[in-house]
Amino acid sequence: MIAPISAPGATYEFVVVSNRLPVDHVIGADGESSWQRSPGGLVTALEPLMRSTDGAWVGWAGQPDLEFEPFESDGMSIVPVPLTANDIENYYEGFSNDTLWPLYHDVIAPPSFYRVWWDSYVSVNKRFADAAAAVSAQNAVVWVHDYQLQLVPTMLRELRPDLTIGFFNHIPFPPYGIYSQLPWRRQIIEGLFGADVIGFQRVQDAANFSRAVRRLTGMTTRNPVIEVRAKNQPMRRVIAKAFPISIDAASFEELARQPHIQARAREIRDGLGNPKTVMLGVDRLDYTKGIGHRLQAFGELLAEGRLSVEDVTLLQVANPSRERVKAYMDLRDEIELTVGRINGDFATMSHTAISYHHRGYPRDEMVALYLAADVMLVTALRDGMNLVAKEYVASRFDDTGVLILSEFAGAADELHRAVLVNPHDIDGLKDAIVRAIEMPHREQARRMRSLRKRVLEYDAARWSTTFLAALADARQRRSTLDSRLDPIDDLEWTIDRRTVNRRTADG
Ligand code: ADP
Ligand code: G6P
Repeated sequence: MIAPISAPGATYEFVVVSNRLPVDHVIGADGESSWQRSPGGLVTALEPLMRSTDGAWVGWAGQPDLEFEPFESDGMSIVPVPLTANDIENYYEGFSNDTLWPLYHDVIAPPSFYRVWWDSYVSVNKRFADAAAAVSAQNAVVWVHDYQLQLVPTMLRELRPDLTIGFFNHIPFPPYGIYSQLPWRRQIIEGLFGADVIGFQRVQDAANFSRAVRRLTGMTTRNPVIEVRAKNQPMRRVIAKAFPISIDAASFEELARQPHIQARAREIRDGLGNPKTVMLGVDRLDYTKGIGHRLQAFGELLAEGRLSVEDVTLLQVANPSRERVKAYMDLRDEIELTVGRINGDFATMSHTAISYHHRGYPRDEMVALYLAADVMLVTALRDGMNLVAKEYVASRFDDTGVLILSEFAGAADELHRAVLVNPHDIDGLKDAIVRAIEMPHREQARRMRSLRKRVLEYDAARWSTTFLAALADARQRRSTLDSRLDPIDDLEWTIDRRTVNRRTADG
């Protein structure tokens, strides 16, 4: 449902800025254009907030060289920022997804450093800052998102000192030894300093950021406060801390309870030949997700006879992503070759080993997939959070099912009762898969109840409310130089005793 915004040039009290809009403009093979839901966890987490507020969402519509007027989509005010083919190549595919993405994900793939990409990153960030400044009302709250836009907070503050600015990083912030490879490491940190609150997924990400600040700028950090001193400017206090992101858990449960979605889940199992166990993997096709490790473990279990295709099917859904970036093209080839090999070696006339689907699905179908799966495999090598893990848990309203979860996904900080794995340890992963398949129902229920409690309580609304409360607090304290931060408010998001102790030890 797309309609033009009734008041052109409107300004908003609340503005979200992200590279991706919640809808992408898509041109089909027949030349017909339409708007489709955008991929990724950022949109999943922010959509519920934006549907329930009057704010504007500033971002890119997913196509090169097309300009769109602001419009309304499903109750959200959308303000598109155009990108040229050149911007996409240098800012989006280049600096964002071939420099920052691999660097911030533990250099799983080697990052490339090109000055021409950096120049484009600076100029596109300026364009986003200009667009946000133009639609923000006096004293508005602006919330900037993710690694593609790390220079926007300071650019925006220079344009509009009246604004209260938040920033949330959806992906990990790397340890200093990795971050320091970035030739523009200082500029990025200074770009973020324009924000009043900088949010991260994990406590460790916030700690990595504070360390980079100390090493690169010499500024004082007193967890979670950074004292920012710029030339000829009064000292500002910036808060940097963890706000683990989540999903609208109740809406997943609501869908899962619907009879037609349950019927669809049964249909999916029937279509697979009704094996005893359906294992599911659902990921953007990204090298951070450890899809290859998962396939290797499954292939070895079949080869060793510990599992058989009559009993177990792996259903792997891979959402197409960043398809013009070389590392992603290579990954697709590698995954599809492996799937083909495993199926060639082990499938029978009646049972396939891996049912592989390279496409996106609507939310209803995703929930049906979650309901159809006895075991969910999340084997990310590094992941900011991993919302798929939370979606699976939210959908399992009858407390059945087992979540295998990589300890390198942010979700592992919260979902302790999952079967936690190190995906690099293929033998350990194989044992975890067998254990999950054989897990008695009582143990499944015990674990799932605890996982569900966490996911339903700490949902997307709680995430955004907590972040925005910290931002409101920062606005109130901004002018008061001697304000004291109550460290207790930091404890709301602590996950367990160890985290609290570690934070205390870090000072
Ligand atoms: P990332 O943000 O890296 O993509 P997350 O797991 O945090 O990873 O979020 C992925 C989001 O994309 C989830 O909301 C998930 O439901 C959605 N998603 C993943 N694969 C598909 C698919 N094939 N079709 C539709 N949505 C998908
Ligand atoms: C992750 C990132 C988001 C990004 C999404 C999809 O969730 O954190 O910023 O939008 O992946 O990636 P894409 O490059 O298609 O926007």
